[in-house]
Amino acid sequence: MRRKLVVGNWKMNGNRAANTELLAALKAAGPWVAEVAVCAPFAYLGDVAMSLQGDAMAWGAQDCSAFESGAYTGEVSAAMLAEFGCRYVINGHSERRALHAESDQLVADKAKAALAHRLTPIVCVGETLAEYEAGQTDEVVKRQLSAVIHTLGHCISQVVVAYEPVWAIGTGKTATPEQAQAVHAVLRAQLKAATAQADGMRILYGGSVKPDNATSLFSQPDIDGGLIGGASLKTADFAAICRAAG
Ligand code: PGA
Repeated sequence: MRRKLVVGNWKMNGNRAANTELLAALKAAGPWVAEVAVCAPFAYLGDVAMSLQGDAMAWGAQDCSAFESGAYTGEVSAAMLAEFGCRYVINGHSERRALHAESDQLVADKAKAALAHRLTPIVCVGETLAEYEAGQTDEVVKRQLSAVIHTLGHCISQVVVAYEPVWAIGTGKTATPEQAQAVHAVLRAQLKAATAQADGMRILYGGSVKPDNATSLFSQPDIDGGLIGGASLKTADFAAICRAAG
């Protein structure tokens, strides 16, 4: 039985006062049956760690470097995230793939660096609108996941996968539960071919998850929770989504 996981991806939003308020409200709204985490901008990880110390909610970052240390101006290493108590790190979010030209291999290398510091990578895969319309969804997500499987070997079982169709992110368009489930099943089959632990692995759905569609998405057999962007910044919405995963 897989425990559901709901992860808030704050992206580049928030400020110290608003974050403190949001986390206090979420702490008051929890605990939940599902595991819940928030992935904050690097600058706020110290604050978040202080706010959530002792709470059931976990926290993480939205990216990490593939390198250990050195002359990589602007980068943050997995070891640094571990020092701030992060449990999770998002790797290969479509915004980073698109805006920072992150390749499948770089994403896999980042996940490897995260695992080396006992962080759980949340590896994002997903097709663009053009790829979706060209019927290339399965091919694209399999190619993206394959790089991670190849790079991590048997350690792939320690990863969380997030399927996020790019056309559904921040657009208000959600994949139907059936559409999402079909892709999750493809990903699960690919993981099964790589590890005997695939049935225990969590595959999250992301892309305009809201309180009113969360229950139907999370009730699909291979959807083990969500990666939540916009709605994770609103206490009532995020709490409702966490409850829907319970
Ligand atoms: P959204 O973002 O929920 O705002 O669509 C999801 C994500 O980008 O992780």
